Amino acid sequence: MFDIVQAGYGGQGTLCGALGVAAHFFNLVAFDAQKTYVAMVDDLFQWYSRTSFPTQRFDAIAHFPKQVQRLAKSPLCHISVSQWTLAAGAEVTSKQKKDRCAKVTGEVVYQTVRMLNAYVDGRYVAARYPFAEENAACLACHGADDMWHDKDGMNNQQGKMTCVLCHPHLAK
Ligand code: HEC
Ligand code: HEC
Repeated sequence: MFDIVQAGYGGQGTLCGALGVAAHFFNLVAFDAQKTYVAMVDDLFQWYSRTSFPTQRFDAIAHFPKQVQRLAKSPLCHISVSQWTLAAGAEVTSKQKKDRCAKVTGEVVYQTVRMLNAYVDGRYVAARYPFAEENAACLACHGADDMWHDKDGMNNQQGKMTCVLCHPHLAK
């Protein structure tokens, strides 16, 4: 069912497919009046962007243990993978890269199951990440920092990705 999410959905390099699948499970399990499923997506995607991949959790069963690690910086497959291939000197078609992405997927599944277990036990609390603080300079004018667009601002941008990653010329 989820075969199509590979390589950022059909090889498009858009959203990391593991995140896309996890989001569906949040929607299925945590679809409540408080919109916990949205908080969980936010939590997982922000965590992903701030994680250095691949983690070493699966090294015992990996083909290439102790791989170079790089910060994903974004939930986008293209950005997450490219940071890593540049650092590792690996081609995107290499076995090393496939091993890296298998570990990333395993780590995302691990975090997802951990979060869902906490939710079902009634002890899930969304982690807080400093997205708004980091991008305060941009969001102060552009807003909004959430998909519901219920805050002040020009409201001419949608998203919670790090602004200067794609707009570096606007960074101070
Ligand atoms: C003091 C208010 C203010 C701040 C702070 C600000 N902007 Fe803007 N930005 C504007 C205005 C006003 C425009 C012009 C909007 C228009 O023409 O519709 C603009 C335009 C833009 C545009 C489209 C045109 C272009 O120049 O490329 C982008 C992209 C943009 N801003 C990104 C950012 C980012 C990223 C940050 C943070 C690093 C930021 N802005 C901070 C007010 C601000
Ligand atoms: C993954 C890349 C990426 C990220 C991350 C990103 N942007 Fe953009 N943004 C773009 C592109 C591409 C455009 C279109 C630029 C163009 O057509 O000149 C754009 C356009 C804009 C515009 C113009 C929209 C309009 O209606 O005038 C604003 C404002 C803007 N971005 C602000 C932001 C802010 C604020 C953030 C952080 C919360 C952000 N962007 C994060 C890629 C990105």
